[in-house]
Amino acid sequence: MDGNGRWAKQRFLPRVAGHRRGVEAVRNTVQACSRRGVGALTLFAFSSENWRRPADEVSLLMQLFVSALQQEVERLHQNNVRFRVIGDLSRFDPLLVSLINDAQQLTAGNDGLVLTVAANYGGRWDIMQAVNRMRQSAVGDTAPWTENDLLQYLSLGDLPEPDLFIRTGGEQRISNFLLWQLAYTELYFTDTLWPDFDADALDQAIASYRRRERRFGRTSEQLAAVNTGRSALG
Ligand code: IPE
Ligand code: MG
Repeated sequence: MDGNGRWAKQRFLPRVAGHRRGVEAVRNTVQACSRRGVGALTLFAFSSENWRRPADEVSLLMQLFVSALQQEVERLHQNNVRFRVIGDLSRFDPLLVSLINDAQQLTAGNDGLVLTVAANYGGRWDIMQAVNRMRQSAVGDTAPWTENDLLQYLSLGDLPEPDLFIRTGGEQRISNFLLWQLAYTELYFTDTLWPDFDADALDQAIASYRRRERRFGRTSEQLAAVNTGRSALG
């Protein structure tokens, strides 16, 4: 979710105003995904590198996270959304951590959209925490580890790999998001700034996805013969 600051700057508003509108875009996008039957939506809200921002902006982002949880979780639950957060929560305020835990517990039994917020998250951090946990659990085990072994320890190891990656705000980078899981994901970049992202923008991204041919290393001819698994995005 990129472009909040520029959205505000274009309007001669403080960056904060862009982040506030960004929360509204999150609400709309979650609702739009739910209605379209998307199985899982993972939002990159705060990267491990974002701590480098000015202290007042970081603290405002934390406040927004707290208030969004206080205001939205009940509605998410009513809409059958399963909410969770991935990332290193050890640096977060105890209030925020307890709100996150409560929201996860409340919605754990829901079987609608799996909404994951990546907070203080980095793709390399994810791989390293997985490797370290795997190493601890495999003391004395000399058999070579497989990709599937590692998968169990990755933050999103229980979900299918993402079909579509969307980055708003014009940059064409992954910026240390889900590095392992994005290996075969279709990448979509749009100049739309995150506060302007809405159901129409989502539909454009999905339309672009549908025009692509996912070969997973095979040839077009093979694909025509074996109709490989199609996802909720069609
Ligand atoms: C993304 O918008 C929001 C967060 C990283 C929390 P930015 O704040 O990066 O917006 P720009 O890139 O300055 O426009
Ligand atoms: Mg940015």
